[in-house]
Amino acid sequence: MPKLRALMIGAGGMAGGWIRRMLPRFFDRMEIVGLCDVIPQVLHDAADFLQLPATARFARMEDAFAATEADFAIVVIPPAHHRAAILQAVAHGMAVFSEKPIADTWEACVDVHRAVRAAGVKMAVIQNYRYTPRIMTVKKVLRDGALGRPRYIMSRFADDYRVRYAWGRFRHEIRHSLLVEGSVHHFDQLRNLAEADCEWIAGREWRPEDQSSFDGECMAQFVCQMTNGVMGNYEGSGLAAARLNGWHGEYYRVECENGAVSVGADQIVRVVRHKARGRVTTDEVDPVQPQWDGHLHVIDETLRWFAGEGPAPETEIGDNIKSAAMLFAAIDASAEGRVVNVREKLRATGIEG
Ligand SMILES: NC(=O)c1ccc[n+]([C@@H]2O[C@H](COP(=O)([O-])OP(=O)(O)OC[C@H]3O[C@@H](n4cnc5c(N)ncnc54)[C@H](O)[C@@H]3O)[C@@H](O)[C@H]2O)c1
Repeated sequence: MPKLRALMIGAGGMAGGWIRRMLPRFFDRMEIVGLCDVIPQVLHDAADFLQLPATARFARMEDAFAATEADFAIVVIPPAHHRAAILQAVAHGMAVFSEKPIADTWEACVDVHRAVRAAGVKMAVIQNYRYTPRIMTVKKVLRDGALGRPRYIMSRFADDYRVRYAWGRFRHEIRHSLLVEGSVHHFDQLRNLAEADCEWIAGREWRPEDQSSFDGECMAQFVCQMTNGVMGNYEGSGLAAARLNGWHGEYYRVECENGAVSVGADQIVRVVRHKARGRVTTDEVDPVQPQWDGHLHVIDETLRWFAGEGPAPETEIGDNIKSAAMLFAAIDASAEGRVVNVREKLRATGIEG
């Protein structure tokens, strides 16, 4: 098979991790043939690492798309620029591989979905947290069936970004910071653990007035119901001053018919059962060891799909738009003080929910 050719939009921040740590693992199947970043030093450092010629280095994505013959575009820039990059990729007939969220507004997400479907190109979104060993272990416990049907899921993300710019500059300057940049992972995880989509969501995101770290909303509490009846509860904070459940340490507890399974900051998956009144047993579960985890899992699946050698990944845009709908329904629910039906939100835009 010839190698797939990629045009990469973004070279620093998370994109630097893609270029230096992740994609090289797959250079037997793909190559980066063009690179774009608005910061010259960042662009040239990454391009030097990739040994790209001057003709493959671009400061403007318009020039990059016009000059580069590629099979797909990789989009790893802040969400406010995703729509512009993805629409150009689609206009050039390229498949798209983008970091989450699809885009920074619901309108932009719908534009992207429409354009991708109209052009008939493939698009996958990175939701790496589905494929961490800790979450795959929780899912294995649920699928093994001994705990019976899931009833509800408690989830918690709490990280300490009380120092301005501690979470990367743009996240402290945008609206809906926690939800757009953080909670979309956790909402997607609720869908993943419940094995169902979100039916409705209610709750509140807010920005405490007495802090100067975030310009936008950085705390959230939401309740939701999934299409199979499982309830979800989400606590999120970017200003955590007590126990942390930061990235890769998020707390999830799935309460089921016959017991519960949980994982938190210590990474140990525990099954808890109430055997007789007052007698509770706790068993630690051996972690699943996947061949590829996190980003690497999604990259492996997506490259096989793009090459025509495997099925669409779970995070294909037709599925992932449902996590985006949950995210923007949560923003509506908070702004309007009501319960928002997520399936109706999808249907109103002509997307099957
Ligand atoms: N899945 C994860 O675990 C994870 C973790 C971190 C970030 N992300 C996602 O990665 C994306 C980028 O986040 P980040 O923290 O790396 O952001 P960032 O602010 O560090 O920007 C990344 C790079 O994009 C460049 N850039 C910005 N605007 C550009 C434009 N218009 N054209 C070309 N280049 C541009 C910047 O100069 C920078 O080098 C976001 O979608 C974010 O949600 C995902």
